[in-house]
Amino acid sequence: MEQSSITQACQVIAQRTSGFQPRVGLILGSGLGLLAERIENAQRIPYGEIPGFPESRVTGHAGNFVLGFLSKVPVVAMQGRAHLYEGWSASKATFPLRCMHALGIDSVIVSNASGGINPRFHSGQVVLIDNHIDWMNRSGINAMEADIGAASQGLPHRVGNPYDAGLLCLAEQLAIKQGFSLARGTYLATLGPNYETRAEYRMFAKLGADMVGMSTVPEVLVANQLGLKVLAFSIVTNVASPDVQSVTNHAEVLDWSRKAQSQLVPLIENILAEYR
Ligand code: HPA
Repeated sequence: MEQSSITQACQVIAQRTSGFQPRVGLILGSGLGLLAERIENAQRIPYGEIPGFPESRVTGHAGNFVLGFLSKVPVVAMQGRAHLYEGWSASKATFPLRCMHALGIDSVIVSNASGGINPRFHSGQVVLIDNHIDWMNRSGINAMEADIGAASQGLPHRVGNPYDAGLLCLAEQLAIKQGFSLARGTYLATLGPNYETRAEYRMFAKLGADMVGMSTVPEVLVANQLGLKVLAFSIVTNVASPDVQSVTNHAEVLDWSRKAQSQLVPLIENILAEYR
């Protein structure tokens, strides 16, 4: 993605928001778009009005860039994201994140909906992602890009611990204060758009995955390349039971992710309050 397109998009955003400078980015996945409604003094820009932005076409994803204050911290939120299964390239899907970085964020909080593979998980559970498996193989990091990070020096980009250890601990501590314990898990990302067969859920369990979904990994890789701190949550919307005949559907996924918001929305607000 060319630096000039990022600059162009940021100019439009700056004009619409009188040069607002966010500190934290939020990428809100299936059903969590409501967090964006809690942003105060919000300036909402539909993706279609920002040059270079991909528009999400999935039910449950609104498609707005929202800038304002959450827990008194200046934030920018993606209310809905573009998925690779909609046909977007990883570099296009991560373009809004690059713009968030150019606007000045130093951390990003990402959320998604996933299928639970770990049998200890239940539908509606919020899990902290502490590692991932890239089954998409489309990182969004383009080695030919001259604008950023190690890739500009012709070096392979290393991502050992993509999720910030300090933010993981902070989230766990604040969840306990809220009265629940957060499990950690490894998230495996597929290209989708289909949910898995029972044989695939079984295979992913053997590979070490606790959850499976269709997003997040391209954004987390790009965020690491940009030097951003990353915290990521997954809402388990259905638990795979490979040995039982059952079918996952999108309505069920949306329903459970809405229910999990009652824990996750205040948790993210409490985490942000620590940023002040
Ligand atoms: N598989 C992939 N993605 C998902 C699932 C699933 O079972 N549930 C919610 N997102």
